[in-house]
Amino acid sequence: MQNQKNKKALKIGVVLTDPEDWTARAFINNIDKRGATPVPLNLSALSASLSTADFSIFDIDSKDLELDALLVRDVGISFSLETISFKFDLLRQLEHSMPVMNRPTAIQNAANKFFSFYLFKHAHLPIPRTMITAELEVALKTIETFESAVVKPIFGSQGKGITKLESSQPDLKLKLTELLTERGVLYLQEFVPNPGRDIRVFVVGEEALGAIYRVSISGSFVSNLSQGGRPVRCELTDEMEELAIWATKAVGADFAGVDLIEGEEGLFVLEANGTPSGKGINQACGIDVTERIVELLLERVGETGF
Ligand SMILES: Nc1ncnc2c1ncn2[C@@H]1O[C@H](COP(=O)(O)OP(=O)(O)O)[C@@H](O)[C@H]1O
Ligand SMILES: [Mg+2]
Repeated sequence: MQNQKNKKALKIGVVLTDPEDWTARAFINNIDKRGATPVPLNLSALSASLSTADFSIFDIDSKDLELDALLVRDVGISFSLETISFKFDLLRQLEHSMPVMNRPTAIQNAANKFFSFYLFKHAHLPIPRTMITAELEVALKTIETFESAVVKPIFGSQGKGITKLESSQPDLKLKLTELLTERGVLYLQEFVPNPGRDIRVFVVGEEALGAIYRVSISGSFVSNLSQGGRPVRCELTDEMEELAIWATKAVGADFAGVDLIEGEEGLFVLEANGTPSGKGINQACGIDVTERIVELLLERVGETGF
């Protein structure tokens, strides 16, 4: 009874940009189901004052945030370094006084395809050969070695901005020059021949809850659901579980959607997403990952006694 009463009083902020998003709604419903109060928050609508005796972060109605914990669904697209930094710095400040899940550092590590790959490599996880360079000559030599390569934005998502290049294509130098002019730096990765799908494994805490294949639409090598990929139930193997759990740990996340790809010699880790959507796995397997994420966050509030 006492426990129930404590939980009723808990206020859990949910950082989101689209209130209609499946995952955002599922977070809110599950927080509500657990007897806590969900507080939807858009980081763009928050202000920070350093003028008073204490720091304060307040919303559009000038109300100070009085939260017990924060769950991050998504921080939204930002068009400048200053706006994205401000959002993450708000999260970092909030992290001083409450559990924030995922931690801002984990979200940043995961979103960064260069640094996350460094962390994966450090953790001895299998990753496709990858080169990051601002030098055209290095880029050309790399693609000659890889023969078939993908070029990705370092901070990309949803399969956007990914191009496939072949060492044999006559306009290779021109294409690389254009990409280099546009991006300033190139992220080149060996193309992994695969069965036309990738695998998205969901990890919460130290457990893999399930997985889906994302089957690419014909003619596309990108299997993201937002690019038309179709979610199909995938039986988790020990190898998938282990890779996904270690990739999640490597970026420091409490929960993640880990992308794996089936190469000819085995699985490779492609990325760990620190703000994954739970919709695909819910559709394909009936698993609600947000339920376990909310449970883990509430356990964390109890443990830390913030
Ligand atoms: N090295 C690769 N070899 C083959 N396919 C790839 C490779 N990298 C990415 N892909 C395909 O592109 C998709 C998106 O790549 P990913 O690295 O996960 O970036 P994003 O953050 O945009 O999802 C993957 O799900 C996969 O289908
Ligand atoms: Mg991906």
